[in-house]
Amino acid sequence: MNAARLPAGRPRRRDVLAGGLAALAAASSPSAEAAETEALRRLAAAKGLLYGTAISAGQIDSDPAFVRLVLAQAGLVVPENDMKWRDINLGAPGHDDHRPGDTVAGFAVESGLALRGHNLLWYFRTPPWFGALPSRAEQRRAVIDRIRAMVGRYRGIIHSWDVVNEPIEPKDGRPDGLRQAVFLDALGPGYLDLAYRTAREADSKALLVVNEYDIVLDAPGQEARRTALLGLLHRMQSAGTPVDAVGIEAHLRALGGPPLSPARLRRFLADIAGLGLTIQITELDVSDEFAPADIATRDRLVADMYRRFLDAALDEPAVKMVVTWGLSDRHSWIVRRETNPVRWRRDELPSRPLPFDAELRAKPAFTAMAEAFAHAPVRRPG
Ligand code: G3I
Repeated sequence: MNAARLPAGRPRRRDVLAGGLAALAAASSPSAEAAETEALRRLAAAKGLLYGTAISAGQIDSDPAFVRLVLAQAGLVVPENDMKWRDINLGAPGHDDHRPGDTVAGFAVESGLALRGHNLLWYFRTPPWFGALPSRAEQRRAVIDRIRAMVGRYRGIIHSWDVVNEPIEPKDGRPDGLRQAVFLDALGPGYLDLAYRTAREADSKALLVVNEYDIVLDAPGQEARRTALLGLLHRMQSAGTPVDAVGIEAHLRALGGPPLSPARLRRFLADIAGLGLTIQITELDVSDEFAPADIATRDRLVADMYRRFLDAALDEPAVKMVVTWGLSDRHSWIVRRETNPVRWRRDELPSRPLPFDAELRAKPAFTAMAEAFAHAPVRRPG
C-alpha cells in the first residue's frame, strides 16, 4: 500500500490502552468502565475468536471519541464502503480513488488491528461502465485488473477478503441458485472461479471468503439460499477453486423477522465446517423497526436476539470471527435513511441496532455479546 493517510490528532491505540479506564471513560460514559474491563476483543480472543467492527474513513477522520471506542473494543476493522468498486471508481476502468480505503488500512496497520477487505466484486456496487464494455474479453480483463489492483495494493495486511459478495439468489430461478446479475451475465458462473483464483495469485495468504446474507433464519427462502450456497461451495471445491471461508452477514431483526432455530443454524454451520471451511460472522446487527418505542424494551429485545444468535453460532468451533456492522448506533446503515428506508421505524425514532448507543454508552446488546463470548467454547484461532 502506498503511504496511507493518517490524520494528525487522531487517537492511537497505544494511548487508549495505556490510558485504560480513564481514557475510555473520558471518551464516553459511566458504563464505559465495565465496557473496558470486558472489552469484546479480549473476551473473544480468550476463546480463539477475533471480534471487529465496520468503520469508515470519514469516521476515522472526524470522530475521535468513536475511534477511541473502536480501539478499546475491536481487534479487527473492515471498511463499510471505502473499498467497494463503485464507491472508489472515478468513472473509467483503472481510475480509482484509493485514499479512503488507504485511510482505513493505515488505521488498522498503525493500530495493530486485523483488517478485512470488503469487497472485490458485488453486483450491487459495480461501476456502470462495466456492463457497457464491448466484449466479454474486456469484461474479463476488468475483473482481473480490479482484483489484482486491490489485492496487490493491500497484500500482506488483509486478513480476509470478501472476494464475491452475495453471489446467491434462488429467486432468480437458476437450478444452481446463483444470482442472475452483472458478472454472471457477462462471464457465466465461471466468474466465481476466475475471481477466487485471481485473488489467490495476488495474495497467497489472505483468506478468501464467500459472503452471503439471509442464511441463518428458519424460512423457506433462507433454506433455499443455504442449499444453493452449499452447492456453490461444493462445486468450487471440486473445481479446485481456492475458497477458505464463508462470511455470514446476519443482519437480524429483534422482532418481526423469521424465527431463529438454533438447531437448524448449528446444522448449517456444521455443514460448512464439514467442507473444511472456516466461518466468519461478518456483518452482525439487530434492527428494531417492529419493536415498541420504549427504549428499555427495545434494547432488551435487540440484546435477546444477539444472545440467541451468538449462543447457537459460537457452539460451532469453525466460527472464528464475529464482526458487527458498526459499533455504536451513532454510525449504522440502519439509522441512515438514505441507506436503509426498509428498516426505518414508522415512529421515526432512530433504531438501536449495535452494542453501544449513539452516546457511546454500552447497551444490553453489549452485555449479551460479552456473555456469549464468555460462554463460548475455546477454539483454535483461525
Ligand atoms: O456518502 C454519501 C453522501 O455523500 C450522500 O449525500 C448520500 C445520499 O445518497 O449517500 C451517501 O452514500 C451512501 C453510503 O452508504 C454512506 O451512507 C450511499 O448512497 C449508500 O448506497 C451506501 O449504502 C451502503 C450499502 O452497503 C451499499 O453500498 C451502506 O452504507 C452499507 O452499510 C451497506 O453495507 C452492506 C454490505 O456492504 C454488504 N451486505 C449488506 C450491507 C447492508 O446493506
